Amino acid sequence: MCGIVGYVGKERAAPVLLEGLKKLEYRGYDSAGIATLSAGKLQVAKRKGRVEGLASAAQTLQGNIGIAHTRWATHGAPSERNAHPHVYRGIAVVHNGIIENAKELREECEAKGEVFSSETDSEVIAHLIAETYRGDLLLAVKEGTARLKGSYAIAVLCEGAGNVIAAAKRGSPLLAGKGERCVLASDLPAAAAFAKEVYALKDGEFALLKGNEVRLFDGELNEIRREPLKFDLKEEDGGKNGFSHHMLKEMAEIPASIANSLVNLQAKSRFSPICIVLCQTYYIQIVACGTAYHSGVAAKAAIEALSRVPVEVCIASEYRYRDPIVRKGTLVIAVSQSGETADTIAAAKCAKEKGAKVLALTNVPYSSLTEVCDFCIYTHAGREVAVAATKSFMAQLAALFSLASALAELKGRSAPPLAPFPALAEDALARSERVKGWAKALRSAKSVYFIGRGYDYAAALEGSLKLKEVSYLPGEGYPAGELKHGTLALVGADTPVVAIVGDKRIAEKTMNAVHEVRSRGARVFLVTTIEDLGAGILPLEDILTLPSCEAVFSPLLTVIPLQMLAYETAVLLGNDPDKPRNLAKSVTVE
Ligand code: AGP
Repeated sequence: MCGIVGYVGKERAAPVLLEGLKKLEYRGYDSAGIATLSAGKLQVAKRKGRVEGLASAAQTLQGNIGIAHTRWATHGAPSERNAHPHVYRGIAVVHNGIIENAKELREECEAKGEVFSSETDSEVIAHLIAETYRGDLLLAVKEGTARLKGSYAIAVLCEGAGNVIAAAKRGSPLLAGKGERCVLASDLPAAAAFAKEVYALKDGEFALLKGNEVRLFDGELNEIRREPLKFDLKEEDGGKNGFSHHMLKEMAEIPASIANSLVNLQAKSRFSPICIVLCQTYYIQIVACGTAYHSGVAAKAAIEALSRVPVEVCIASEYRYRDPIVRKGTLVIAVSQSGETADTIAAAKCAKEKGAKVLALTNVPYSSLTEVCDFCIYTHAGREVAVAATKSFMAQLAALFSLASALAELKGRSAPPLAPFPALAEDALARSERVKGWAKALRSAKSVYFIGRGYDYAAALEGSLKLKEVSYLPGEGYPAGELKHGTLALVGADTPVVAIVGDKRIAEKTMNAVHEVRSRGARVFLVTTIEDLGAGILPLEDILTLPSCEAVFSPLLTVIPLQMLAYETAVLLGNDPDKPRNLAKSVTVE
């Protein structure tokens, strides 16, 4: 949801900034821009569309200092005019976040005769800083941002302030790094790619970058000292490693992601502080968005089945506004791949205020969510570049199922082993080749329904979301038994149905729904872990039988072909599955 970069060093800034933007492009890709300072004058290049489209315009930019931005539109359509940096009276600003009082502030500025050049909420920041600038850029940034409501991470360049970048953070992530050069970036991998020592700014803090020096300041502009982050980022080049898309590469990494996520949790020393809380847990709320929410739906089924502890799964953006009931003994689990999702962070904060213990389950070390929560479990899926979550979802499932098993054991119950799942997932991946044929049928569909009961319902939800995200085909994930209560009216020859069956006990019930939709003309594709299910009913090529496994953990297998189906359909339709339209990987605004 917008990525920002800053650079001060000895090299020409524009190529370094472009490199940084490429690393952050997963955060938004509807327009991009760079501002540099050369001989005290601002030079700006902006383009609608992806970062690569900015490269030729950036060739003319001189100077060894600059700021840059890749955008996911909130206020104002994707266009060159709305692309950042926004410049007003010698002040250039890049912004990640949302300014909620932008309209009032803009009207105030316009009443004073100031002219705006974009429709964005962000431009007002440049105006406020320009109004307060009296030769001290940091002070002007402090005073200008004091009037803002909402969230922001900003980087500011100023004609006349020398070769310095000022930065401020509230509610959106920002890291500053130093080494031979100084950088700002919206995430750790981007900052760490350019600097040895990296510091995470906290909300309400400021930074100044000059020469090879990074200085951090608190809300009163007192300079603060902070230890650099300790990180062990494997040098992941973000490349496709021979695969045609990141999404395909990341699906191939699913078995390893599951294995890493399981190993991490089974290390008792790391797990024990959480064990203490689990012993006192009588009620669980899971807060999350999108795919992470679906991992919560799967976890609810597993936790309740294995430990008998009741679980509520909450869409994070709904949680805080409904005045949630948090009883004594409630553990809130905030699930987020990026750890930067504003809705999930807000829900976690709300739960803490209400007295819950809050556990973050995230894939990204030092992400904002980890700051808010009492405990943290990392899913160790590795960097995920494609916007559509695949391996990170599997790692979330593995971690949540491990948690379900641990809770069951603490409550004196047993749980089936998870250790076979990396190998089973490898097998499921190999068998998923079959869905290539299914994708041909889906590409001309009016809409696609995914149905499942019990443990399979989460898989149906996730299969449908994945298909919508990358193929743009409408549809729904639905409880198989509920279809006949209304939605069946939409089913016909042009609405294929994907049925998921990972649990023998309810197999026949889901198959009833299969018969019902087939009677209305729908072609049915069956994903199952149950040998021979569907034989004699459906054509063999429309049945995908996965290795059999414990039903409670079956989404670890059944979702794999659904992800593959979404990918294959997107490719057939000529879409870029790595960067679906209108979306961004990390949604840092509410
Ligand atoms: C997943 O494919 C989507 N890109 C999206 O639903 C995502 O899961 C959601 O925005 C939550 O992101 P998070 O896990 O980083 O919090």
